[in-house]
Amino acid sequence: RNAAPRFVWKEDDVIRTLPKRNRSSHKGTHGKLLVVGGSRSMTGAITLTAKAALRSGAGLLTMAVPDDIYSVVANRVPEAMYYPCPARDGAFSGAMDVSALDIDAIAIGPGLGRTDGIRDLVSSIVQQEVPIVIDADALFFWNEYAALIRERKAATVVTPHPGEMARMLDLSINEVESDRFGVSKRLATEYGIYVVLKGPYTIVTAPDGSQYVNTTGNPAMAKGGSGDVLTGMIAAFLLQHHSAQEAISNAVWVHGKAADMLVERGHSQWDVLAGDLIEAIPAVLSYVQ
Ligand code: APR
Ligand code: MG
Repeated sequence: RNAAPRFVWKEDDVIRTLPKRNRSSHKGTHGKLLVVGGSRSMTGAITLTAKAALRSGAGLLTMAVPDDIYSVVANRVPEAMYYPCPARDGAFSGAMDVSALDIDAIAIGPGLGRTDGIRDLVSSIVQQEVPIVIDADALFFWNEYAALIRERKAATVVTPHPGEMARMLDLSINEVESDRFGVSKRLATEYGIYVVLKGPYTIVTAPDGSQYVNTTGNPAMAKGGSGDVLTGMIAAFLLQHHSAQEAISNAVWVHGKAADMLVERGHSQWDVLAGDLIEAIPAVLSYVQ
């Protein structure tokens, strides 16, 4: 029953698997990413996801946000394109039509809120046949669209913290935390997806049940927004790796290493902001490239 292997994903693995940029590459080579999130009371989360994706090499980025908050968000990320969507009560009002967009991957969740429209929004997005990263409030409605996930052919990545994982599997947080490997493997193999169970020693589980443990990161990351940054990094790396497992494990490693470098280089474990993690990505990538 425990046949699938477990590994620690180390610096050597990152150096070995991080792709080199082709000299003749152009922005299309590095992938067109759509990020979907945001609501009136959470305008920052999707901005963090978008900036982290751009700092992690995404070639072209489009931000889909409720049109109520479009002008606020658009002021913060000049490098992105925008797709303002119909809003109700400051959040997405329902399903989204992405047929007009040319995209290679999607990240959905940060700052969405939990209003009724989000259910239909996420169900419409998971039917797109491109790799997808599902996080935060998009995981809240997991039971509503889980059956659709089994039909997907492209990679599906879910990035729950223990509370989100507990809700997805109808367990208590204690049940998740006392069997992090087991519950991750159950979810990954049952749905054929990649599961990133966050926390100190984040575990990445592949659809075949193989598991990769991360050792970078520190309590400086225990602050709202850190997870939103990771979501953008994973999506950007998915676009630039052949192996989804390597992309995800590398993103998790770089994300934690960014926090470690900040604390080594003048920050305390109290003062680090999620935005600082994004600004530390360049130092980590130049260290391992
Ligand atoms: N050691 C190492 N890594 C840590 C530590 C720690 N002590 N604490 C947090 N982290 C890392 C986690 O591994 C994860 O990558 O920081 C990130 C935190 O991610 P989330 O728990 O998703 O937190 P975040 O999204 O930033 O903020 C919480 O988002 O998901 C919603 O419902 C959630 O509203 C809440 C908000
Ligand atoms: Mg989160």
